[in-house]
Amino acid sequence: MIPKAELHVHLEGTAPPALIRRIAERNGLQVPEGVFAAEDRFAYRDFLDFLQTYDLAASVIRTADDYRDITYEYLCACAREGAVYVELTASPDHARLVGLTDEEHLDGIARGIDDARADHGVEGRILISAVRNFGVEQALLVARYAAGRPHPYVVGFSMAGDEQNYPAGDYAEAYAIASGAGLGCTVHAGEWAGADSVRAALGLPVTRISHGVRAIEDERLVAELAERGIVLECCPTSNVVLGVFPSYEEHPLPALRDAGIPVTLGSDDPPYFGATIGGEYDVCAARMGFDDQVLRDITRTAIDAAFCDDGLKETLRARV
Ligand code: ADE
Ligand code: ZN
Repeated sequence: MIPKAELHVHLEGTAPPALIRRIAERNGLQVPEGVFAAEDRFAYRDFLDFLQTYDLAASVIRTADDYRDITYEYLCACAREGAVYVELTASPDHARLVGLTDEEHLDGIARGIDDARADHGVEGRILISAVRNFGVEQALLVARYAAGRPHPYVVGFSMAGDEQNYPAGDYAEAYAIASGAGLGCTVHAGEWAGADSVRAALGLPVTRISHGVRAIEDERLVAELAERGIVLECCPTSNVVLGVFPSYEEHPLPALRDAGIPVTLGSDDPPYFGATIGGEYDVCAARMGFDDQVLRDITRTAIDAAFCDDGLKETLRARV
């Protein structure tokens, strides 16, 4: 099995319908109307509707133990597919919305990481993520929180949400705070908006871009990404399911890689898109012509681009 590393997956978005139902039940809650399209399938019509379903499903996640279980179950599933390292994107906003303190939230995730390591040898770290459409002020709070309370597992800062209506430049101060505190930085761009959004993201202190694939619309931008060695966290299944590209065959991942841009793979919100990290590697082999050597290279790129410390990177490299 090819060893795998994943840099782009949203923690609340890893919980499949069955786990969301189980968590709702033990918290004495009903899953809100409209979350499920079927027993084992989330409901959404398009990208913005997906973001709403995500928030509704996340609203039943209430306790540190819930976050522990979601983290543990996801990391164990990844380990079974050969993952050695996963960076989990955690959203303090979602935790605060349900009344969890930041400490409870992080403590739950950290326990999930520790338990998964003990049981399966997989390593996990945390990116603290703001949500663009929750506004600039809220993003500043999240950045200050991430910067102000160092935690051994919190290694980076990210921003998800609606890139089209909330341009990256508005969040420069939040990124300055996070980056100034030594956190690695990445940002969603070039998924639901085009090359201009990626260009705007390059004005932030980032070494990676979450998605970034629509950079393909601008040849000079592709050259700049390659030149600067900006790493793209690509999620082909998410893109195809959400309609960013019509098919795997038309996905620009191979072209971006051929242009010299470092690429990695992520499942984004796995059960929403029928994705897994192992599945993304499989898709690259089956539909994009990547052989085992290329797939191992992708894992090495992910380890190089990871925001964890160098000691852990060395240990991970030895496993690839
Ligand atoms: N939040 C969760 N998944 C996301 C995605 N694919 N893009 C933007 N924000 C998200
Ligand atoms: Zn994402």
